[in-house]
Amino acid sequence: MSVETAPAISENTLADFLPLHGTDYVELYVGNAKQAAHFYKTAFGFQSIAYAGPETGVMDRASYVIRQNKITFVLTTPLKTNNAIADHIYKHGDGVKVLALMVDDATDAWHQTTKRGGKTYMEPTTLKDEHGSVVLSGIHTYGDTVHIFVERKNYNGIFMPGFRKWESHYNPTSTGLLYVDHCVGNVGWNQMNPWVKFYEDVMGFKNILSFDDKDISTEYSALMSKVMSNGNGFVKFPINEPAEGKKKSQVEEYLDFYNGEGVQHVAIATANIIETVTMLQERGVEFLKVPTSYYDTVLDRVGHIDEDLAPLKDLGILIDRDNEGYLLQIFSKPLEDRPTLFFEIIQRKGAKSFGKGNFKALFEALEREQEARGNL
Ligand code: FE2
Repeated sequence: MSVETAPAISENTLADFLPLHGTDYVELYVGNAKQAAHFYKTAFGFQSIAYAGPETGVMDRASYVIRQNKITFVLTTPLKTNNAIADHIYKHGDGVKVLALMVDDATDAWHQTTKRGGKTYMEPTTLKDEHGSVVLSGIHTYGDTVHIFVERKNYNGIFMPGFRKWESHYNPTSTGLLYVDHCVGNVGWNQMNPWVKFYEDVMGFKNILSFDDKDISTEYSALMSKVMSNGNGFVKFPINEPAEGKKKSQVEEYLDFYNGEGVQHVAIATANIIETVTMLQERGVEFLKVPTSYYDTVLDRVGHIDEDLAPLKDLGILIDRDNEGYLLQIFSKPLEDRPTLFFEIIQRKGAKSFGKGNFKALFEALEREQEARGNL
């Protein structure tokens, strides 16, 4: 049966044992952080913020911190083999290692989650320099991915101790990317519900939306998804698992190439998706395209929208509506050679959902890409 429950985000944060202020940063382990930083700056309009490496006393890695409005990415590469970062890249290729979450009390976040069954990645650790102190702690989630809780209320430095300011003469203009809207995890067969339970039990999240294989299937392939949200709705983690179809699920392709579970996409909000996507395309970002026939009937489905349809059609931006409003969204092609991590760009105009009405057109577009790779 096809089920979509209405978004029901609790207003009651008093009972929230893990209050989160949002995403602090997303850290990717990559094969070449210097070049990756240049790519994300050039293509997406991030700014240089901070650097850590041998020059700052960190001997095993180099990390570049880049930022655009409320989005912070850390791009980290190992400087030698035989360490956890190098092993991660050997196994997964470039990908998201850390989804870091902003908290008031990282020690309490660790106690609250580990006593509920969370597996420790990092015990509470205080880092200090002349700008104050940052407390970090962390737990494991699906695959080799981790959550780090970041407490920075007593810190006024550029990023955190161990990093120095990264001044660059190269500062591409912003593309209007504002904040992380949601981060989606792909998990293995029959693993969606166990991870839903993890986010419920260990982190106090609620399942706000569910999509089964009837919602998310084409003639050939299928997946299932449940959206987990924290109490104030600032942090949303949809969890996907593959479902049986005539051909291979896109989630299965991801699992094959990422060599396990991991972050499938990071959705980034903009206040003007037409301007943002125009700039991204000019800078070489490639997006999935649905057939132009999508636009012949889309307004019959979603009703009135404020934007002209023509630029949405030119850019390939998708539209969907729920009972609270509508949203505009588009999905990039994978950001690396493996068909693994990609970005979604989303503009919400009241809607709190995830574009269910676009799933079929979108997944047919994805299947064409899968087929071109020989993985359908
Ligand atoms: Fe998404």
